[in-house]
Amino acid sequence: MSYRLPTTVVPSRYDIRLEPDLPTGTFAGEATVTVTVREPVDEILLNAAELAIRSVAIEGPGGRTLEGAATLEPDTERARLRFPERLDPGESRLRLAFTGILNDQLHGFYRSTWKDAAGQVHTLAATQFEAVDARRAFPCWDEPACKAVFAVTLVVPDGYAAVSNTGIVAEGPAGPGRRTVSFADTIRMSTYLVAFLVGELEATEPVMVGKTPLRIWSVPGKRRLARFAQEAGAFCLRFFEDYYGIPYPGDKLDLLGIPDFASGAMENLGAITFRETALLVDEGAASHNELERVADVVAHEVAHMWFGDLATMAWWNGIWLNEAFATFMEMVAVDAWKPAWQRWVSFGVSRAAALGVDGLRASRPIEFPVEAPRDCEAMFDLLTYEKGASVLRMLEQYLGPETFRDGIRLYLRRHAYGNAETTDLWRALGQAARQPIPPMTEIMDGWVFRPGYPVVTVAEAAGGLRLSQRRFTYLEAEAASEERWQVPVTLRASVGGRAVERRLLLEAGEADVPLAGPVDHVVVNAGGHGFYRVRYAAPLRARLLDALSALAPIERFDLVSDLVALCQAGMLPAPEYLELTARFREETDRNVWTVLVAYFGYVNRVIDEALRPGLAALVRDRLRPAVARLGWEPRAGESELERQLRGDLLRALGTLGDDPEIQGEARRRYARYREDERTLDPNVLPAVVAVVAAGGGEAEYAEFLERFQRARTPQEEQRYLYAPAGFRQPALLQRTLDRTVSGDIRSQDAPFVVRALLAGVYGRGLAWAFVKGHWQTMARLYPPSAYRRMYEGVTALVSQAWEREVRAFFPEHGIELGGKTLEQYLEQLRVAVRFQEREAAALAAHLSSPSPPSGERTG
Ligand code: BES
Ligand code: ZN
Repeated sequence: MSYRLPTTVVPSRYDIRLEPDLPTGTFAGEATVTVTVREPVDEILLNAAELAIRSVAIEGPGGRTLEGAATLEPDTERARLRFPERLDPGESRLRLAFTGILNDQLHGFYRSTWKDAAGQVHTLAATQFEAVDARRAFPCWDEPACKAVFAVTLVVPDGYAAVSNTGIVAEGPAGPGRRTVSFADTIRMSTYLVAFLVGELEATEPVMVGKTPLRIWSVPGKRRLARFAQEAGAFCLRFFEDYYGIPYPGDKLDLLGIPDFASGAMENLGAITFRETALLVDEGAASHNELERVADVVAHEVAHMWFGDLATMAWWNGIWLNEAFATFMEMVAVDAWKPAWQRWVSFGVSRAAALGVDGLRASRPIEFPVEAPRDCEAMFDLLTYEKGASVLRMLEQYLGPETFRDGIRLYLRRHAYGNAETTDLWRALGQAARQPIPPMTEIMDGWVFRPGYPVVTVAEAAGGLRLSQRRFTYLEAEAASEERWQVPVTLRASVGGRAVERRLLLEAGEADVPLAGPVDHVVVNAGGHGFYRVRYAAPLRARLLDALSALAPIERFDLVSDLVALCQAGMLPAPEYLELTARFREETDRNVWTVLVAYFGYVNRVIDEALRPGLAALVRDRLRPAVARLGWEPRAGESELERQLRGDLLRALGTLGDDPEIQGEARRRYARYREDERTLDPNVLPAVVAVVAAGGGEAEYAEFLERFQRARTPQEEQRYLYAPAGFRQPALLQRTLDRTVSGDIRSQDAPFVVRALLAGVYGRGLAWAFVKGHWQTMARLYPPSAYRRMYEGVTALVSQAWEREVRAFFPEHGIELGGKTLEQYLEQLRVAVRFQEREAAALAAHLSSPSPPSGERTG
């Protein structure tokens, strides 16, 4: 089946008039599309879905008008317009009248609702067109390479705001109680970037960034939560104009928080839409993570205004470059805005997540051919975003940041208002590099067009070190593989007490690195930018663990993350790993702690219930010294990251570590918080809530539900949205499950609550039973992208019996998750069950000893 539209007739301009009717959930529209007929044809094919086309006419170059008839082809989401005579080549005007529905699926032209303080429900209409849903709002050539100018007019109720990609050029009455609002012409751009919104929305005063007014929009009453995003947005706009060396391509920039939103945010040119948690925040009441999230998403979407919006991928196979680049720039910009946040270190967590998926045999190349545009929906994953951004970071560090930036500038200038392929970027970067380096494509092809990545093994050899590479996989980890990558390796060694650094491109299976003397210790992947894992020979590993203070935080992070992966792959016994975590009691970096704690959590999902107290004791042993150092109260002069770390550790110690002291103190502090909110640091509050939930009963449950309903900020709402998934009593967990299909929780959030319940050791059995009973309801209620992601939770169902059920479940009901997603979830589950089969006995011995192996400390 062909999904691509013929290029015999192509659009250059759309004049669109839309009149949404919010109460009935419908809209009426008219479009005049200026098209070029390139060859005489008697039919025109374009995209349309869930639209009724009421009339079709075309005015040819000679001024002659022909009436046509439309038939819809639902399978390919196309409309075929037939005319009684051939159309003359040249510029023509195609006139269409149509009607459609404002759906509740959070894509196309859709309805979102919110309640005011009096409990009254209000409705707004918003759009989400990426990847292929503009066709639900107006008939169009819905392909990224079919760029055109858009002139939008909206007919809206009085008192409702209307927002689109550009500024308003005309407004006037349109019959009783209605207004017509017309927007300026857009630049030449793709259909997936068009946006229009109608609702009782409020905006901040604009801040001017050069010539561009920047405003934040929200439903009424939330304007006070806009300041942080407006500052982030202003910084990013300025920063990117400078980085790209090209002025912002729009005439204004609006950032809008929408109560119902399927993804995090969407880069519509000039009218970026966000879910509320990613935009609206009370700076004084938010944790570091919550602020970082807003900064990240704002930076990411503003980065797209050039990379993606101004210069666009030619087809959906190129989506990775769009998203990977925006993710890369998100780090660059946030790092420039808040250097103290050390954004590239926390990016290690994202890189590690990508290494996790890409270590599966069911991984996929970052870029692959896309036939049906729907296939690209499964491409919005860790491989696109995080692996993509990681390999760009690796390349940036290899070429040097200035050269890399020059290549980006060249690429954008060359393809502005147009489209490009991945190879066009390599060409521009190669030209900017002007050095005798191997052609960009040779280095990059292995990372982009092939799945997987290497593990680089390091051992001592006569006269230095020997490096070797082979593909890393969790299953059949020791199987030989002939695959090779061009690996930019940076290593830092201490040789006879002297520090030496070496850079090389590891191309063959093996390479020797001569060093002038015996190696005290060596860090491979120094700086942490490489997308590969490192396996140190045992003596080198032992000496590296003795020299942790010589490692940068990102290097310690990579060390732990790689050790965890080796352990999951069966190359390092789990007890040995658990034992060496004792070396990290003095750790101060929150990302290193994140990976340590995450793996304790992994082990907790694998072991028998009877071993949980043993694991909890081990967790207490590792975490208590750090918690004792940090205490409960923020200290003057402390960094934001230390405050966040305090929260992270208290949470882990009070939940995974089951520490009674922490649990008691959390209850006391929560009680005090109820009296006086100023008594709790915003970074500690989420931890306190999680710890109270873990030990809580009916009363706490009821209290958290009420706080959810009364939430004053999106972050507070989110906190009490997830807290009910953290209780341990089955009856309470069951109530949380029931709420995921009752309509009490927004469909944008419910699938993620289900995922959290599936992932918890106390709720997973109940949650799995619930999903088996309600998957059809969930498929109907939840936005498709989020529904698919919900099933990631099955990777926590670690037992042979569960694994069998999970494997049978999907084919039995014909549930497809798109692309390789399901295969990946199933393999992740296999890896965990395999780990369980392999390590169960050793873990039982290790964790059931009366006192944990390293001796419980009280800190
Ligand atoms: N273009 C995407 C939004 C999107 C995702 C549209 C999937 C259609 C399908 C946007 O730029 C994006 O990447 N948003 C991220 C947030 C970002 C900070 C990583 C998201 O929505 O998760
Ligand atoms: Zn993006």
